[in-house]
Formats: sequence, structure tokens, C-alpha cells
Amino acid sequence: MRNLYILLFSCLPILACSQGKDNLKDKFSDYFLIGATINQEDYQIIDKDKKVLKIVSENFNSLTPENSMKWMHSHPEYSKFTFSNAQKITDFAKDNNMYLLGHTLVWHNQVPEYISEIADKGKFNLHLKNHIYQLVTRFKGKVNMWDVVNEALNDDGTLRETVFLKMIGDDYIEKAFQFANDSDPNVELAYNDYNLYKPKKRAGAIRIINSLKEKGIRIDAVGVQAHWDLHFPSIQQIEKTIIELAATGVDVMITELDITVIPNPYELAGIAREEFKKFEGDKKWDPYQAGIPDNIQKKLTKRYKEIFELFVKHHDKISRVTFWGTTDKYTWRNDNPIKNRADYPLLFDRKYNKKPAFFELLNIDFSKIK
Ligand code: G3I
Repeated sequence: MRNLYILLFSCLPILACSQGKDNLKDKFSDYFLIGATINQEDYQIIDKDKKVLKIVSENFNSLTPENSMKWMHSHPEYSKFTFSNAQKITDFAKDNNMYLLGHTLVWHNQVPEYISEIADKGKFNLHLKNHIYQLVTRFKGKVNMWDVVNEALNDDGTLRETVFLKMIGDDYIEKAFQFANDSDPNVELAYNDYNLYKPKKRAGAIRIINSLKEKGIRIDAVGVQAHWDLHFPSIQQIEKTIIELAATGVDVMITELDITVIPNPYELAGIAREEFKKFEGDKKWDPYQAGIPDNIQKKLTKRYKEIFELFVKHHDKISRVTFWGTTDKYTWRNDNPIKNRADYPLLFDRKYNKKPAFFELLNIDFSKIK
């Protein structure tokens, strides 16, 4: 299946393959799909920022809606579905022959409040089933793969306490995959999470995959989110992650790649996320408002090169590499977990220019990768 997709989405039209490799999708066309996200925020990229759309159509052959299909946007009220933004992204993907991700069906984050007010467990189960059915059938034949369940694990590999776990029980992941399969037996189905380089969390993901398979419930891929920084995780940790996840027999996808270059307050033990607000405007936590220094740009370029050389080395296991965003201007990193910072995690800068890391990726010499 994966080779067929890579062939279909990367090598059509054939003409593109025979031309010079001056864009990402052609450069990596023999190895994996290359993806980006499009957002739907108040600046409404899909309607207003045509420059971003040009970058996306020129460089990427896979697309993920960054927010539009999430529960709070697609199903904001008990009996109300809103698909207009998701539909625009879907149309764009179709017009540009892109492999489209459905992100995401079951996630504890970005859910509307009414969900936690459903007191009856049977009713909750039916509501989840209906949510999955409505989204999957609405985009049948358009979405190629759904992130069925997102971020179900704690870092120690146990199941995160979410409204889904509370209302449905330990088997909510199985149910979600079964509902998705029943709604469309042809769409690919994935489990997606972050920090899978951590051995205990990775073991948890492997348990989920194996348990689904043992029960005869279809899972096609595992998504490694890849919100990384200049040093962590190490290349060795990433390699181990890819090898161990691939050993389960499902495709590995790098689903949300970005490399932050600014300090991460998550490392501050004992400080709750809500307290990060006090760091807003503090230069210590936002050192590069005036621009990224040369030495950091060089580190970012080197980091991207090493990461992509590793992905190419393991391309037999990886079917897609998606960047979480397109330009540094719109990256979620600028506002999370501290608002209004200047981060530089992607391959296109705030003025839509290609960064040195972009050219470094185009210059990778595949013949030297063993
Ligand atoms: O919807 C409101 C909008 O009405 C308002 O105008 C705007 C003003 O800032 O805020 C909007 O909400 C934002 C929401 O995205 C839009 O859906 C929130 O402030 C913002 O915090 C939220 O951030 C998203 C985040 O998920 C939420 O956790 C990011 O854009 C998105 O990139 C991020 O993506 C997640 C993946 O889905 C899963 N993995 C982690 C990844 C990064 O957190």
C-alpha cells in the first residue's frame, strides 16, 4: 500500500519527476511523501494567504488540516457539525493531488465543553460512534488516512486520564478504531503521539498497536509527532524509535515535524502550564524577536540534514514526513506555551523565503546514505 501511495502522489504527473529537484516533494519522491499543514485561524490562511498556498502546492504532496477537523471545530455542538473550513482544505488537497490526513477523531484536547456534560455512558459511546461516523463518511474518498486516536498515552506508557477513558473504559481505543473501520474500510487508520522516543511511552504505543492487531482490529500506521529541538531527541533515539515501531508491522509516519530553537519552559520542574503567562515578554524566554542568529540558523540547518539523512536511511519503514506548519510566521510554536514569541522551527521564514535548511535538504546526496 505504502509504495503505491508514494508512487501515486509523488510521481504524478510523471513530468514533475523528470524535472530538476528544486522542491521538497520531488527531492524525496523515491523515499516518502512530504507533508505540511494548513491552519484556519482568524487570519484564515486558506482564504487570505495565497503565498502560503503556493509554498504548499509547490513543495508538498501531503496535507494535514492543523485544526479544522478537530472536534471543537468540526462538531462544536451536540447535534451540529461544521465542515466549511475542513472542506476548503480538502478541496485544495484534491486540486493539488495531495495525500490528505484527517486530524484527528479522538483527542482529549480541543473538544467542546458539552462532551464532559454527557453523563450517561451508553449515550457517550453512541455519541463517539456518531462523531467518528459523521467525519469519516463526510470525507470518504477524500481523506487518505485518519489519525483515529491522538495522544492517548502518558510518558510512562499508561493510558492518559481523558473523558474517553472515563466514559468508555480501557477499550475506548479499540472501539474508536473499530468505528472508523466500520465507517470506511478503505481509509487508512493511525495512532498518533509525541515523545515516542521515550522507551516507556514507546512501549505503550507498541502495546496499543499489538493489542489492536491481536483482536483483529485494523491499524495501518503509527504517527511519530516529532516536535523536537536542536539537541533532543538524539539521532540514536530517533533511529531506535523508528526501528522498534516499524517492527510491529505498521507504517511509521513522521507526522508533526518542527524543530524549536527557543527555550522550553516545560523543562522547569514544578511550574504549571498556566504559570507560563508570567514569562510573556521576557527576553530570557524569547531571545530572538529581532531575528535568528547565524549560529542558531547553522545548528538548525545541520539538525534538519541529520534528521532527514536518518529518514532516508529508513525509508523502507517511513511512508510520510509531515512538517507541522509551513512558515515560521504561523507556527503554533510562537504561541505555545508562551504567547507572542518568535520561534524558527520550519523551512520557510516569516517572509516566506526558503531558509538554509531547505537548501540543505535539497542538497542531500542520497548515494552517501547507508
Ligand atoms: O478558535 C480560536 C479562535 O476563535 C481565536 O480567534 C484564536 C485566537 O488566538 O484562537 C483560536 O483557538 C486556537 C486553536 O488552536 C484553533 O483551533 C487556540 O488559541 C490555540 O491554542 C490552538 O492551538 C493549536 C493546538 O494544537 C491546540 O492544542 C495549534 O494551532 C495546533 O498547531 C496544535 O496542534 C497539535 C496537534 O493537533 C496534535 N499534536 C500537538 C500539536 C501541537 O500542539
